[in-house]
Amino acid sequence: MKKEKRILTGDRPTGNLHLGHYVGSLENRLKLQKEYDTFLIIADVQALTTNFETPESLSKDVRQVAEDYLAVGIDPEETTILVQSMIPEIAELTIYYSMFVTINQLQRNPTIKSESKQYGYQDMSYGFLGYPISQAADITFCNADLVPVGQDQLPHIEQTRKIVRRFNQLYEPVFKEPEPLISRVPRLVGLDGENKMSKSLDNAIYLNESAEEVIKKVMTAKTDPARIRADDPGHPEVCTVFEYHQVFNEHEVNEIEKSCKAGTIGCVDCKKRLGRALNELLEPIRERRQKYIKKPELIDQIIMAGTKKAKSVAEETMKQVREAMKLDYFNNK
Ligand code: TRP
Repeated sequence: MKKEKRILTGDRPTGNLHLGHYVGSLENRLKLQKEYDTFLIIADVQALTTNFETPESLSKDVRQVAEDYLAVGIDPEETTILVQSMIPEIAELTIYYSMFVTINQLQRNPTIKSESKQYGYQDMSYGFLGYPISQAADITFCNADLVPVGQDQLPHIEQTRKIVRRFNQLYEPVFKEPEPLISRVPRLVGLDGENKMSKSLDNAIYLNESAEEVIKKVMTAKTDPARIRADDPGHPEVCTVFEYHQVFNEHEVNEIEKSCKAGTIGCVDCKKRLGRALNELLEPIRERRQKYIKKPELIDQIIMAGTKKAKSVAEETMKQVREAMKLDYFNNK
């Protein structure tokens, strides 16, 4: 069956993917890969915006993200996995777009603002400030229709839509305006109960952790501080563990809510049940991962084939872009 519409989304390779990535976007990609022509970009150039001093970790991290994709069930027959830096057309497109995106627009981007605070950037680099432009090139080199992402990425999709409208109006209509697709859980809280689940905040449960590690981490999750004894009535609405039950344990969540409020289930039992539910989700992922751990060359082959296919799509798009921008001086001579 020919797939009519295209998805592009992706991740920065900065380490293992975690449950936040799973519900934020991976789950939607899995669901939609049969229906949409799906491209997943491993955004290594974007990772350099913060990791430019330590590029040696990238080669491991790029493979790690691909391994996570494959382990969760991304099917390389349905989905094209590509590496951003291996498609120079994306860098070229970024430069052209950067002519008509204003510094003001970039400085107002709320995600850029909060990330720069998180990384403690007083004086932002040009590349960091401008990465939403590069992300617009990621999304448009293949003219994607849909971009499944977490909520924090919405300003970047909005920026991409602006760029597309401007390009089409300045030159010729080459691009489609992509739509965001927000997941059922726009923001998964971390084990600390305060911040978004994130590697840099050390509050994450990773997709490649063992069953024991998962249970151990769940035991550290923030619960209702008013509950001291197991039979104190609880307040699930302020409990991180309950938030996870809502996301990962649909079968038991109603009963757990009642028992917590009535003080008939203790926090330790409640956490054990969450650990079980999480491990049910993670077990098939662990099993699928084994295949790639045994044969890591499979991962390289899948990345190379995907990148090659994506590159030919990018070359086709750049022909249209250069023509639209009148940069095709010698093509007809
Ligand atoms: N900025 C995204 C993140 O931090 C990663 C990313 C790069 C991306 N290029 C993309 C997401 C294109 C969607 C579409 O998670």
